Amino acid sequence: MKNIDASLHTRGESLYVDDVSQPEGLLHAAIFPSPVAHGKIKSLHKDNAEKLDGVIAVITAENIPGENQIGPIIQDEDLLAGKEVHFIGQPVAIVVASTAEIARKAVHQIRLEVEELPIITDPVDAFRQGEIIGTPRTFQLGDVESAWSNCDIVLEDVCEIGGQEHVYLETQRARAIPGEGSIMQIYASTQSPYAVQRHAAKILGIPNHLIEVDVLRLGGGFGGKEDQATPWACMVALASHHTKKPVELVLSRAEDIRMTGKRHPYKSFFKIGVTKEGKVLAYSAEHYQNAGASADLSPAVLERTMFHSTNSYFIPNVKIFGASCRTNLPPFTAFRGFGGPQAMFVMEAALTKVAEALNMPREQIQAKNLLQENNLFPYGQKATRCQAQPTWDEAVNAYQIEKIQSRVTAFNEKHFERKKGFAVMPICFGISFTSTFMNQAGALVHIYTDGSVSVSTGGVEMGQGLRTNIARIAADALGIDSERIKLETTNTIRIANMSPSAASATTVLNGNATLLAIEQIMKRLKTLACEELKVADPDKVSIQDEKILYDGSEIGWDWERLIQTAYLRRIGLSAHGFYATPDIYFDKSREKGRPFAYHVYGTAIIEVTLDCLRGVYDIDSAKIVHDLGRPLNELVDRGQVEGGLAQGLGWMTVEDLQFNEKGEILSGALATYKVPDVYFMPDNLQVAFLEDADEPISPFGNKAVGEPPLMYGIGVFYALRKAMQAFRYRDDYKFTSPLTPERVMLELHREEAEQLVKTEPVLTATPSAERS
Ligand code: MTE
Ligand code: HPA
Ligand code: MOS
Repeated sequence: MKNIDASLHTRGESLYVDDVSQPEGLLHAAIFPSPVAHGKIKSLHKDNAEKLDGVIAVITAENIPGENQIGPIIQDEDLLAGKEVHFIGQPVAIVVASTAEIARKAVHQIRLEVEELPIITDPVDAFRQGEIIGTPRTFQLGDVESAWSNCDIVLEDVCEIGGQEHVYLETQRARAIPGEGSIMQIYASTQSPYAVQRHAAKILGIPNHLIEVDVLRLGGGFGGKEDQATPWACMVALASHHTKKPVELVLSRAEDIRMTGKRHPYKSFFKIGVTKEGKVLAYSAEHYQNAGASADLSPAVLERTMFHSTNSYFIPNVKIFGASCRTNLPPFTAFRGFGGPQAMFVMEAALTKVAEALNMPREQIQAKNLLQENNLFPYGQKATRCQAQPTWDEAVNAYQIEKIQSRVTAFNEKHFERKKGFAVMPICFGISFTSTFMNQAGALVHIYTDGSVSVSTGGVEMGQGLRTNIARIAADALGIDSERIKLETTNTIRIANMSPSAASATTVLNGNATLLAIEQIMKRLKTLACEELKVADPDKVSIQDEKILYDGSEIGWDWERLIQTAYLRRIGLSAHGFYATPDIYFDKSREKGRPFAYHVYGTAIIEVTLDCLRGVYDIDSAKIVHDLGRPLNELVDRGQVEGGLAQGLGWMTVEDLQFNEKGEILSGALATYKVPDVYFMPDNLQVAFLEDADEPISPFGNKAVGEPPLMYGIGVFYALRKAMQAFRYRDDYKFTSPLTPERVMLELHREEAEQLVKTEPVLTATPSAERS
């Protein structure tokens, strides 16, 4: 089944927030952001902006009728800066004008006087100064302290892991339309309609039921709209409340990059102890998360880091420490993998360090320590239906790792300035929101008298194919053609209190809720069929290809006739289904439990060729064996694997998020922040799905697929490192990501580079006219 949005997308006909026809009198908003990273607000001069022709209002924190608070976990985040500013780009005022151009022009007329305060940009500095969000966490298994002495070698190092800009195609935007009384409709590009509803109600000081949030689809979210779509929606609601007019806000790319959070940079210290055969006996890691200026989702992201600290390996003695550290950068937020990738990068760094110290192949160390059935994760959950070994074996055999090894060795012997490297990257990713209560979903199904079907769920389409998946699930459960199914917008009136579409669990949660709604209607329809067709057992009634079957044989009725009869017999043709993931829990006081419904596994092999004189490289191939359960829709699922991989490769290589010491973003445009393009992707990309790996709790046995493939991308870092080692061996190459071509150069030629930096640059070029 092809993606149900494919033809609309390719014709450019799919609608986004600001494509929907403009309501009468629509006003436009623009944001005045803080120009400094930290300080006390002394005064805000907005008169010049207010005087401009076409400006309707300039709204500040003082104009908020409710509570100026949008923190999702910890109440530490103003919608509009009140007394202090905490990062460059923090919204301070909203200008509302008749056009977006006038609103932007007016923003430049605003002046903010700030008494500047010292700033912090580094998470470890923040930790030392006590700028810690929430309580640091410690996960333990076995006893690391006594295990070190049993190890043949113990190694330590540090990882500096870069952040990542989401680069969703559609920047943040929202539109609010005031209704009668204090009713407000909000159209937003959010992964979390309920978060928008809740926070807009809080800002306006009204109950949730007066706010309706509607989401058609997103031009990408990738976690960047899980929490950080909320402020813009609240701002248009606030502006609409004051002006009594519809208001729209669309951030430009530059504004979006400056004002919104990204993937968290981490600084992580590790220590690993092994036998001389390469069996890991003990591992400890300290993760210092750069949370940015407010908590946002950082504590939850840190928790997922903790859970993924040992990736797909079993280590008997583990101690993991994690702290979320407040700095004066934009609040870092959810991004595909949600803290898991950083932890897995550190684990791979530690195993690489071991391989280099023991002079053994990296993949041999990995293989020796792979997670097996019934092994314990440090958080107390047992690995069940563990596919770490099966995906590893399948990848190593199907893609013939010995051939890769010998090809790489032969190439490296023959070439001086170019070197190849490869790395195996196994992944293990826990499926469920780590906050157990969030694992719930609702769906509302209506069947109309002509047999067409309307399905609403709490899930949001962001390009991941949710609408297609749900249509498929509903069509199969009803036994009818998927053309009859319409996926409705995600709306807080039809589905209440929905969790964000995140944690890769959207299809699983909302698909199950849809199934539960359909089950109720089907039960009624089957009873009706028995009465009408004079057959006895409702359990023997089924619908297939729109035909009504009894005990597997056609009995002359079709779907349309059944539905028309049901209507005339006054049988309810609507139902609401509610699903909550069973058997998951977590006890934070002991840091033990069973937080995940199941885990997704997989193994990738990534091969690169590095130009060691220039630092540039090609990713030759990525070969993946992915544990998908049973594909729900192979095209959609494959798209998720390839897209996730691309984002992971970009994060590890070219996407270089940089801030200066003033907290100012240096990579604030797509000219300075590079994302991988189609040419950057491996020429040879192979994806195979592990056979016979159905997941019993998922609709139709498929497993969550949204985030896990991103982490295959981590392999490219270690493949590049292998190539670097082949050119010039050293035991102190840094575990600093991303490994941009520039960084590869500086690392390969570190002493020469240091020499260059120490010497004052001398201007030797002469104007061409003097040269002759
Ligand atoms: N794929 C596309 N095309 N666009 C997106 O925004 N978001 C990713 C992933 N794949 C995303 C995507 C993230 S961060 C998550 S959590 C999941 O999709 C969310 O959708 P799912 O729960 O249906 O997998
Ligand atoms: N994953 C993604 N988003 C989340 C989670 C999670 O585990 N918890 C809260 N928001
Ligand atoms: Mo995805 S980071 O859970 O939105």
